[in-house]
Amino acid sequence: MNPSEMDTKVVRGVTLRKDPARESCFKVVDTDAEMAAWADMSAQSLRERLHRHMNNEMTSLDIAAQCLADFPDAPWDLRMQLARQSWDESRHVTALHRRLRQIGGFKGEFPVANFEWTVTCFLDSLVGRLTLQNRTFEAGAMDLMASLPGKWREAGDDETADLLDSIAADEIQHVRFANQWIRKLTSEDKRLLFKVAHAVRFLAQVNAAFAPAPGETNVVGEAVDAGWVAPINVADRELAEFSEGEIAEILRQAGFTALASREETRA
Ligand SMILES: [Fe+2]
Ligand SMILES: [Fe+2]
Repeated sequence: MNPSEMDTKVVRGVTLRKDPARESCFKVVDTDAEMAAWADMSAQSLRERLHRHMNNEMTSLDIAAQCLADFPDAPWDLRMQLARQSWDESRHVTALHRRLRQIGGFKGEFPVANFEWTVTCFLDSLVGRLTLQNRTFEAGAMDLMASLPGKWREAGDDETADLLDSIAADEIQHVRFANQWIRKLTSEDKRLLFKVAHAVRFLAQVNAAFAPAPGETNVVGEAVDAGWVAPINVADRELAEFSEGEIAEILRQAGFTALASREETRA
């Protein structure tokens, strides 16, 4: 689909795809500053974390399903992977919604943002969307998932921790099939490398526009955390078929120079 045919919105000077449909109980916002999120593990923070994760899984479902709709001529096996991903993401949404209700939360209790959809679905190529959603956002989530269940266990909630562990196992496959298909598609048609490069550059521009000002706070007065990035989950990235050279590059960009050179030695 051509961006000129899409419904769009402008946030902080950047044109993005307009948000996907959400039930009227949800308040949809554009930025982290408009979210109500807490750094601690208080009861309201636990509900907000599950609520936010639930909406992120809805966004993953929206993106995979929209790729099926926007790229009907994609190879059948790739479409099957996107269909399977849609099924996985729908189960993740359902399971998180169930757990949210068990701990006293409800749909629409906190604002939600659909950042990944608005960036990814603005791209006009499937290879570009796989590059951002699966290979960048979901790979980043995979890194986060290495430490997140432990945080819930420390907070005394083993049930949510177990749920997050089971979701993380599915996410590896979403990153893996994207890596496999990006490699296959770009080796068959080198011009698609421009689409990959364009996707990466576009995300860098959006991230620069969305970077919070020093001291910026959200609607409940908590600092908007831009600096913290989860440590690279090397084991899961290997399972998701990032090459050792790619893992080394990611480690280097994240400031783990010593680890990156160790990875390069192995490569
Ligand atoms: Fe998911
Ligand atoms: Fe996923």
